[in-house]
Amino acid sequence: MLTLSNLCKRYPTGDLALTDIDLTLPRGQVLALIGPSGAGKSTLIRCVNRLVEPTSGSVTLGGVELTRLSGRRLREARRAMAMIFQEYALVDRLTVMENVLSGRLGYVGFWRSFLRRYPQEVVAEAFHLLERVGLPHAIDKRADALSGGQRQRVGIARALLQRPELLLVDEPTASLDPKTSRQIMRLIRELCAEHELAAIINIHDVLLARQFADRIVGLRAGRIVFDGRPEELDADILTTIYGEEEWDTQSEAASSQEPESPARPLHQPLTAVAAGGVR
Ligand SMILES: Nc1ncnc2c1ncn2[C@@H]1O[C@H](COP(=O)(O)OP(=O)(O)OP(=O)(O)O)[C@@H](O)[C@H]1O
Ligand SMILES: [Mg+2]
Repeated sequence: MLTLSNLCKRYPTGDLALTDIDLTLPRGQVLALIGPSGAGKSTLIRCVNRLVEPTSGSVTLGGVELTRLSGRRLREARRAMAMIFQEYALVDRLTVMENVLSGRLGYVGFWRSFLRRYPQEVVAEAFHLLERVGLPHAIDKRADALSGGQRQRVGIARALLQRPELLLVDEPTASLDPKTSRQIMRLIRELCAEHELAAIINIHDVLLARQFADRIVGLRAGRIVFDGRPEELDADILTTIYGEEEWDTQSEAASSQEPESPARPLHQPLTAVAAGGVR
């Protein structure tokens, strides 16, 4: 459904963020993109919807080469891709319902959305989605009155109201506590299954990636160094992705902090411990 071919991105500053990225994402697949800070994860996601302009290579979604489009045709093609952000990107002074409805801005035209006159069936759909993400009682609350987890639920409902085929998710849990992070990842995972949505999820937490993704891609210095199933992600592969030096440092730091009674369960694999420390 989504194909990236020979995708390269060099920023005007000279930073080479992506080199020869080849990736095909089938319909309905949830892909976790992992890798150290600066590896190019956000750049890759943003090249897909052309928030960042690729330097060379192509992005094709549903047979349409996005990298050749501009103007209205690009805007229309972008409807098929919805973003979910770490910082939620809600409008604080608007209500939850208004924030969710803004997911349809790309459809209803400027004046209608300016006057906030959304068709009744769109409002009903937004309400249904707010129920689905667990916020039916918060529709009239202002967005800035919500917790981080609730804000992310609004962000997810807004993304789905766009009726996308592909979710582009940049560190959805980076500002959330561990339990809320799991709930949010589970929700995204379930919604992808319910709506047959593909997703690319940038995530630092390797445990969450392993638990909730169908496939893991590891980026290092702008190149894909691993592409496989979650259960294939072992210590060697994590070293390839994150590097030997940080790996050793993190393992030592973790063991010296908790010599006798680790707070984490003992059955948790070493790979997870080391990877969890690399942020
Ligand atoms: N707007 C920009 N202008 C210049 N260089 C940039 C820009 N955005 C990112 N870069 C550079 O591109 C490379 C990849 O950055 P990117 O933000 O994609 O990494 P990332 O994997 O998302 O990192 P993080 O995990 O910290 O979010 C880095 O070297 C970064 O400095
Ligand atoms: Mg990033």
